Amino acid sequence: MPMVSMRQLLDEAAKGGYGVGAFNVNNMEQIQAIMEAARETQSPVIVQASRGARSYTNDRFLYHLMMAATELYPEIPIALHQDHGNSPDTCKSAIEMGFTSVMMDGSLMADGKTPADFEYNVRVTREVVDMAHARGVTVEGELGCLGGIEDGHGSDADPLAHLTDPDQAVEFVERTGIDALAVAIGTSHGAYKFTKKPTGEVLVMERIEQINRKLPHTHLVMHGSSSVPQELQDVINKYGGKIKQTYGVPVEEIQRGIKHGVRKINVDTDNRMAMTGAVRKVLTEKPEEFDLRAYMKPAREAMKEVVKARMIQFGQAGHASDYKPIPLEEMARRYKETPVTV
Ligand code: G3H
Ligand code: 13P
Ligand code: ZN
Repeated sequence: MPMVSMRQLLDEAAKGGYGVGAFNVNNMEQIQAIMEAARETQSPVIVQASRGARSYTNDRFLYHLMMAATELYPEIPIALHQDHGNSPDTCKSAIEMGFTSVMMDGSLMADGKTPADFEYNVRVTREVVDMAHARGVTVEGELGCLGGIEDGHGSDADPLAHLTDPDQAVEFVERTGIDALAVAIGTSHGAYKFTKKPTGEVLVMERIEQINRKLPHTHLVMHGSSSVPQELQDVINKYGGKIKQTYGVPVEEIQRGIKHGVRKINVDTDNRMAMTGAVRKVLTEKPEEFDLRAYMKPAREAMKEVVKARMIQFGQAGHASDYKPIPLEEMARRYKETPVTV
């Protein structure tokens, strides 16, 4: 099937009361891992690429790998999403390249670090909504800032200082017309999110409930949602790595979010860790090995297992065949019928 808009996936997820994992990709093996996990669990999927991933793959490789995915897995609905677009230009080039969804992250300035003011965020996000919706492409916006600068996205400020304000969220959604809202609730990108299992003071799930009460029809997005499982840390460290003890977002907290409007859950770090651990294991146990397939295969397998587990935990498993793809032209027509008026 052709790639579908993320809006269609999220609308379906809302109807079914489940969440959809959005997994980052940088190469063929990661795309294969996600697609195999989707087939084995019969899940719709969101595949997302950061600006860094687009530059690493030079866009064209990514595009053709995704075309291969649609060809080889025709039964799986796939949305291709630009993760953390830093400017309308980035989103425009993604749409021209064939992405069916874009994130305009106007919570930060174009440097991807400096927290932006509300009016700037509204302006750039609305600009992207106008451009994207005319082509039937979905838009995710973000209000509030995540922490964590080690991977290039997120403010370096204390994440708790920039939580999403529920009243401002209502104004933001009304004035921009976005399809999905990424909220800041204390998570950050990368492996080092929390120094102990998080309590409600640092991982403020209650904020999601407050936002969901005010915006019951808006799809909410959780970024920085890797769970950073102990086993994955242990494998890396057992085979020569140096990951300091750390804690991620517990799956049960994500499941609580899904009960309160969270429809998209971003996961990258867990997959990176799974692949890194598998590569380290092979190279440590067989230092004479130099056929890259000997370590990329187990790495791909390890990522597939993580993605499968999340697909089951988020509830998207079993839903691949629920619906027929809506062409982007039809999505564009629907947006035109209900324009943003504010
Ligand atoms: O948002 C962060 C994702 O983990 C992507 O990270 O910019 O290193 O590709 P990246
Ligand atoms: P993690 O670093 O927790 O996997 O978050 C990924 C993310 O939010 C990508 O946008
Ligand atoms: Zn993110």
